[in-house]
Amino acid sequence: MIPQPVTQNPLPDQTFTLQSSATVGVLSTEEAATWVADQLAAQLRLSTGFPLPVQSGEGTITLSTDGPSSLGAEGYELRVDGTAVTVTAATAEGLFRGVTTLRQLLPAKADAGTEQSGPWEIAGTTIADAPRYPYRGVMLDVSRHFRSVAEVKRCIDLASLYKLNRLHLHLSDDQGWRIQVDSWPELTKHGASSEVGGGPGGHYTKADFAEIVLYAAERFVTVVPEIDTPGHTNAALTSYPELNADGEATEYFTGTEVGFSSLAVHKDVTYDFLDDVFREVAEQTPGDVIHLGGDEAHSTPHSDYLTFVPKAAELVVKHGKRVMGWHEIADAPLPAGSILQYWGTDDDRSRELTRKAAAGGAEVVMSPANRAYLDMKYDQDTPYGLDWAGLVSVEKAYRWDPATLIPDLPESAVIGVEAPLWSETFDDMSKIEYMAFPRLPGIAELGWSPASALDWESYRARLAGQAARWDVLNVNYYRAPEVDWS
Ligand code: ACM
Repeated sequence: MIPQPVTQNPLPDQTFTLQSSATVGVLSTEEAATWVADQLAAQLRLSTGFPLPVQSGEGTITLSTDGPSSLGAEGYELRVDGTAVTVTAATAEGLFRGVTTLRQLLPAKADAGTEQSGPWEIAGTTIADAPRYPYRGVMLDVSRHFRSVAEVKRCIDLASLYKLNRLHLHLSDDQGWRIQVDSWPELTKHGASSEVGGGPGGHYTKADFAEIVLYAAERFVTVVPEIDTPGHTNAALTSYPELNADGEATEYFTGTEVGFSSLAVHKDVTYDFLDDVFREVAEQTPGDVIHLGGDEAHSTPHSDYLTFVPKAAELVVKHGKRVMGWHEIADAPLPAGSILQYWGTDDDRSRELTRKAAAGGAEVVMSPANRAYLDMKYDQDTPYGLDWAGLVSVEKAYRWDPATLIPDLPESAVIGVEAPLWSETFDDMSKIEYMAFPRLPGIAELGWSPASALDWESYRARLAGQAARWDVLNVNYYRAPEVDWS
């Protein structure tokens, strides 16, 4: 099982078998508890061919939100005995995490989209589980190469199998603008029509984005939208001349260099633009966070950067959201409630900025580039991906502790982990899957399981056991030599 639960004990001599007469019962007044039951039943109908009606009250499989609040919003208890399965939580979200565990206890073919033959057995067990951290994310860069709504949904499905609960979408960069903003229509009329290598690009309409946000919410994943500023902005600068310091629109950019673009820090129109963009993005975002980027602003003079960040941050707060940003933003004063995303490589400067932000009250999400970046090559022979932060084997991605990676950072400042996947070298989903699997489940375990449960030998054995599910789900994963794939 991945992530490893907090406690799991066998019920010896008891085996549950899902039969064609089984029902799924819901004991809850939360409407979302019924979504969770419906999703479970819908999947198991496909693979087992059983009718699996969902009913209120007890069933063969019962989902109950009668659990104590001491379980927390995402915690759950699960009991499998000879006759029944019970998942108990305090919330529908906790039920969803428990059902995710139940799906891993079933044979891998239970995740198939077509009817398989049984038996559908689960060894008797009791589990009590809750996450170590509230923020457990994956980031998809849809700017360097655009991904369709269907592809984003597949990412949500695969991430939620490992109890991840944030999808950070990197929606703007030099190569393309990807989200509809009605008040600045050239962003998508013009700025969306490019990507790395000169492909057609694309963008999400408001309807598309709403579909992504809803699909994510039904899987208890919150979308964190990023509008990268003041650098990484060529797609905006090519759409609107007035956003440039010299008033001249730039050309499309389809290369992969970074650090050459900047919004005009001293023009009022820049802040009118960001006010509108953050307002419209906030309106499309039920989550409480907007990410304003802030990384690699190499062509923004440093004093300008220090002027810019607080003004941009204030606009995010004005529209009711918390500020999130890459660790460089810690050089400027940040509003209360900000979240800093560390993407350093054990270097002093990024550690110092992260400690400074934490000392000022910011929360920290850990995305060390030399461990958590899914776009780094596994080894020299990996056919795509980058290596500027080093080669990141499955073991290297797994063997670190988010609480202690940065010396002298108070453990209480860390709210979780995120695995970013930058897409300069990935023009299709199969390449993205190859880089994410098998490393992403390891980052998910670092976010969920208690520090005492983190163990490479145990993890690599459990990872091998996941391959059967990936085969069923047609996930293109890398058969890393560190793991004994059976
Ligand atoms: C980053 O990798 N530029 C955050």
